[in-house]
Amino acid sequence: MVVVAARRDYIVVKNDSQLMAGEIMPDALPVLPPALTALLDRASVPPRLLHDPAPGQAVLDLAIAAALRAPDHGGLRPVRFVFVSGVARVALGELLAGSLARRAPETPAERLEIERGKPLRAPMVVAAGAAIRHDRPGVPSWEQEASAAAAIMNFLNALDAQGFGAVWLSSGALRDESVKQALGFAEADALLGWIYVGTPDADRPLARSVDPTGVARHWVPGEVS
Ligand SMILES: Cc1cc2nc3c(=O)[nH]c(=O)nc-3n(C[C@H](O)[C@H](O)[C@H](O)COP(=O)(O)O)c2cc1C
Repeated sequence: MVVVAARRDYIVVKNDSQLMAGEIMPDALPVLPPALTALLDRASVPPRLLHDPAPGQAVLDLAIAAALRAPDHGGLRPVRFVFVSGVARVALGELLAGSLARRAPETPAERLEIERGKPLRAPMVVAAGAAIRHDRPGVPSWEQEASAAAAIMNFLNALDAQGFGAVWLSSGALRDESVKQALGFAEADALLGWIYVGTPDADRPLARSVDPTGVARHWVPGEVS
């Protein structure tokens, strides 16, 4: 076994048969492939640490292109992004506060005010969803939602890799038909999250490695774990 790459607590090892001809233990450990480094380094940035400027169209276009590389049964491209920036965030805040007031009429005015102000915490909020096709029985709705969720993850990774910060948040308003409709989603669509986006504060959280215990195993037929 030879360590061929190491970064923080991640190491990559190869056995003799995996080594390329002439490959030997390097003096200085090379970095991981950039794509893998980007995946390992991504971390969410809370809205209060997201500042102006919001990403421009070129950055968003690359993030959308990355989103569209998600696995997609039947090539249905179910993911949908609706960008809300500038004064449109005020209108989104009204939608969120109105939704909360309808869903929980006893909500105190101060709590509604917090809901109203949520979209203003970051320069851009992205309503992310899935346009579900019910005329494709071979691709059930859960697969289309799974594909859209994978696309949203690619979108987050692409923003992070371009130096922008983002976080995927949810709220009861995601399941409010009138909110969905006001944002231009169809009845059959699913709203999957609010993605807050902006330029990260210098104090942004950095990626932390997560204990992989229990996450993965090799199946041995007949053996019950
Ligand atoms: C569908 C979905 C909804 C989420 N909703 C919330 C939320 O409402 N509030 C929250 O604090 N985190 C929420 N999260 C988790 C954050 O996006 C984030 O993953 C978490 O803060 C951990 O940070 P990390 O991504 O850097 O590990 C949600 C994640 C997903 C996938």
